[in-house]
Amino acid sequence: MEVAKKAAAESAVEFIKPGMIVGLGTGTTAYWAIQALGKKVANGLEVKAVASSVASEEEAKKVGIQIVSFHSFSSIDIYIDGADEIDGEKNLIKGGGGALLREKILAFNSKEFIVIADESKVVKQLGKFHLPLEVVPFAQPLTMRQIAALGCKPSLRLKNNTPFITDNGNYIIDCDFTSIASVAELNIQLHLIPGVVETGLFLYTMVAKVIIGKEDGTVRLL
Ligand code: A5P
Repeated sequence: MEVAKKAAAESAVEFIKPGMIVGLGTGTTAYWAIQALGKKVANGLEVKAVASSVASEEEAKKVGIQIVSFHSFSSIDIYIDGADEIDGEKNLIKGGGGALLREKILAFNSKEFIVIADESKVVKQLGKFHLPLEVVPFAQPLTMRQIAALGCKPSLRLKNNTPFITDNGNYIIDCDFTSIASVAELNIQLHLIPGVVETGLFLYTMVAKVIIGKEDGTVRLL
């Protein structure tokens, strides 16, 4: 699995050019992109990066990548990140690591969003992976009832028996929809519920490329 993730990540990093503002993803696949970019920076590539999580920011700093804040640019040239599920149209579920809000903002504001993954993430229809939603903590029970009314089993994400807190101070609700027939429609319905800050549904319109790494170290484009 690591060979495949690394292959996809290294292939995506080849699209990064000098002077770019680069969005850094979160998770075990994006980790390899940060490592590969770190090597390029060590060899003289000059870029600035913005991270989708505190964890990725720390990892990037460790390998010498210059981090800038969300306030210091007007768009991102290239954003490289993993996904939890990818369907045939290139719609995604993201947020397994709880970083979906910053990830969605980076994807939406990027000129090019490159998704990197191994074969296990490719599915016919989204929904087997429980869809993460970022919600405001104070209204969580009410918001969760409204989410359940859309036909899923929602559960509050926990860490050490207490609610998992995102980098933005919110909660995550993981929703078991079994399968999602209309990704765009569900995304709108979820956004209409007050208290839902962001959904882990990333529509194909945001995605430029999907690079799938294989166990033999080669890659294919979806
Ligand atoms: C983080 O919040 C997620 O969106 C990740 O990008 C996604 O969960 C993929 O992570 P892995 O590369 O670790 O599978």
